[in-house]
Amino acid sequence: MTAGHRTFVAIALPEGIRDDLAALQRGLAIGRPVPPENLHLTLAFLGDQTDEALEEAHLALSGLRAAAFDVQLAGVDVLGEQAPRLVFAGVAPNPALAQLERAAVQALRAAGLRFARQRFRPHVTIARLSGAPGWSEIGALRHYLAGHAGFRPPPFRVDGFGLWRSHLSRKGARYEELARYALSAG
Ligand code: 2AM
Repeated sequence: MTAGHRTFVAIALPEGIRDDLAALQRGLAIGRPVPPENLHLTLAFLGDQTDEALEEAHLALSGLRAAAFDVQLAGVDVLGEQAPRLVFAGVAPNPALAQLERAAVQALRAAGLRFARQRFRPHVTIARLSGAPGWSEIGALRHYLAGHAGFRPPPFRVDGFGLWRSHLSRKGARYEELARYALSAG
């Protein structure tokens, strides 16, 4: 198998929202916070892809036409019921966002990209947890989630989305936006 590029399609967050998320992260005593430059909203995870597939993905996403829209982050929750793996900020219900995910997945599939489709549950991961948390950690997490259920920064405009690459190393993941695709105004 050829070494692929670990790829995903995501929306970058404005600085103000990243500041709000950083404040949210500071209240969480457990887990590893996602570095501010890595905070993003994933539309689709494509996994390992070859150079050729990335070229096709770029062409397909360049041809996608959709209008800009607003997104509002809302609430905080964990993924992984028995052993929470990550803490995330949720997203208020958003048909335009769901439509963009469908359009991107469709365009990529039509271009021949192969990847496992996951149920789209929009979120911004703010911290990763490793290992099974102990009771005191679960207690701290419950307290944290209850205390931040009202997290609701102002809506922000999504006027583009990008094709991102993830570089994994022992120091953690570094994300690189390979290309940005504009959404039309109004
Ligand atoms: P996450 O925020 O829920 O961890 C890069 O890895 C991005 O793709 C992350 O935002 C990650 O989402 C998302 N992603 C979705 N499915 C993934 C998977 N199976 N493995 C790794 N990352 C995945």
